[in-house]
Amino acid sequence: MERFKDKVALVTGSSQGIGAACALRMASEGADIILNGRTLDERGEKLINQINEMGRKATFLVADISLTQNVINLVNDAVKVYGKLDILVNNAGVEKNHNFWEVTEEEYDLVMDTNLKGLFFGIQAFAKYCMDHKTPGTVVNMSSVHEEIIFPHFAAYCASKGGLKMLTRNLATELAPFNIRINNVAPGAIATPINKSLMDNKEQLNNVLKNIPMKKLGAPEDVAAVVAFLASDDARYVTGSTYFVDGGLTYHYEEQ
Ligand code: NAI
Repeated sequence: MERFKDKVALVTGSSQGIGAACALRMASEGADIILNGRTLDERGEKLINQINEMGRKATFLVADISLTQNVINLVNDAVKVYGKLDILVNNAGVEKNHNFWEVTEEEYDLVMDTNLKGLFFGIQAFAKYCMDHKTPGTVVNMSSVHEEIIFPHFAAYCASKGGLKMLTRNLATELAPFNIRINNVAPGAIATPINKSLMDNKEQLNNVLKNIPMKKLGAPEDVAAVVAFLASDDARYVTGSTYFVDGGLTYHYEEQ
């Protein structure tokens, strides 16, 4: 499949986990990739090599997407690297586990600035580029099942992903006249470094699995497959939606 032939995709937070899987998946289908993270380390270098081995180009741009001017510069710089940008995957995200009454302003800001504010202004920069150049664009946001279902002790995270749900609904309408599609992917429990403590705790893991009808964690590649679909022309009539990749978690029913 060469669904992304002649396309360039920027994936934020792509050194590891779901972002890395998205980058590899789109490269395997022909895209040149702009990788991003707060630092370039051996994981980023390895990804560049893997993408090059597929015959595709890859460049890593260092930027902290929680800072508004950084994320705007990231998108504008990404356009310059290969002369265009077709796909923006807003993947970078953070979570903080705290009782609501113990959350500090610093933690709240970190979660909201990364998961919502940075993403907001990244999409704005991308939309301006598409509008100025009269070129179509596709945005895929990494949301979470927690744009829909509660997650006690993760109030700021839920607020950020809940906000992302409505942001995507709203922008789908505002940006459709400019040929820009925007959708969310909402992963359930995926085996990535963000879930290391869960995966290391057998009892906690079993409790989580009880709520997943498919009785297993997802793989980053499971999420990347849906991201690739939404970013591709196969989804040309899809905008303003959320696609859940959760093994049935969100709307499960526990039989007694
Ligand atoms: P991860 O922690 O393995 O990877 C996130 C990447 O984003 C890391 O490379 C990190 O350095 C980068 N990042 C964080 N803040 C950044 C910033 N300010 N600027 C640039 N890069 C930054 O996480 P994972 O699991 O791959 O998650 C990716 C996305 O998927 C997140 O938005 C997360 O909320 C979402 N998600 C993950 C789930 C899971 O079970 N793993 C479930 C639901 C949603």
